[in-house]
Amino acid sequence: LPSLSILISGRGSNMIAIAKACQSGELQATVGLVISNRPDARGIEAAREMGIETAIIDHKGFDSRLEFDQALHERLQQARPDWIVLAGFMRILTGQFVDRWQGRMLNIHPSLLPKYPGLDTHARAIAAGDSHAGASVHIVSPELDAGPVISQVKVAIEPEDTAESLAQRVLQEEHALYITALQHCVNMDLDSSTNSMLP
Ligand code: GAR
Repeated sequence: LPSLSILISGRGSNMIAIAKACQSGELQATVGLVISNRPDARGIEAAREMGIETAIIDHKGFDSRLEFDQALHERLQQARPDWIVLAGFMRILTGQFVDRWQGRMLNIHPSLLPKYPGLDTHARAIAAGDSHAGASVHIVSPELDAGPVISQVKVAIEPEDTAESLAQRVLQEEHALYITALQHCVNMDLDSSTNSMLP
């Protein structure tokens, strides 16, 4: 099965949803490794409890982004993932790192990209008077939150919504969105490997 390495920084609810989908067979992949850049990320404990290999690479232990990214790269090289999955990973990655995993790294971002790259996406959507918020799964490119979008989910903004209530509703949709997008990516690989075996 194709192997995923998932990068997190916190709660890890997307990571848990993806890992569960792998365990149930809904997603034809395995989670080979979960990495957190924060030692206190709640998701790390959850991953361990699910029997998944974990690693902590604390960004505070490095003098520069380049050195942190190098350590991340070396750990990922050991895991040899087919896809790297950013799931609430809150570090900006250097262009060098992104280039090394070019086209093999996905991110989920809580907005309808290209709207609202960066932080505080839901507060910004509410402040702008948007009718909908949402989330996007995209291929990671060197510019922040700017790579090609694979799929999106739209969620209506209600008049009484706060950034928190909206974030919670969008998050529920993120889990299904990410699983579907990953299924698509994994199938794409299977199709291309089948094709290459044709006479
Ligand atoms: C998710 O809402 C994800 O879209 C967002 O962080 C949350 C992580 O939740 N990602 C970003 O803002 C990336 N810039 P989780 O840890 O429970 O999956």
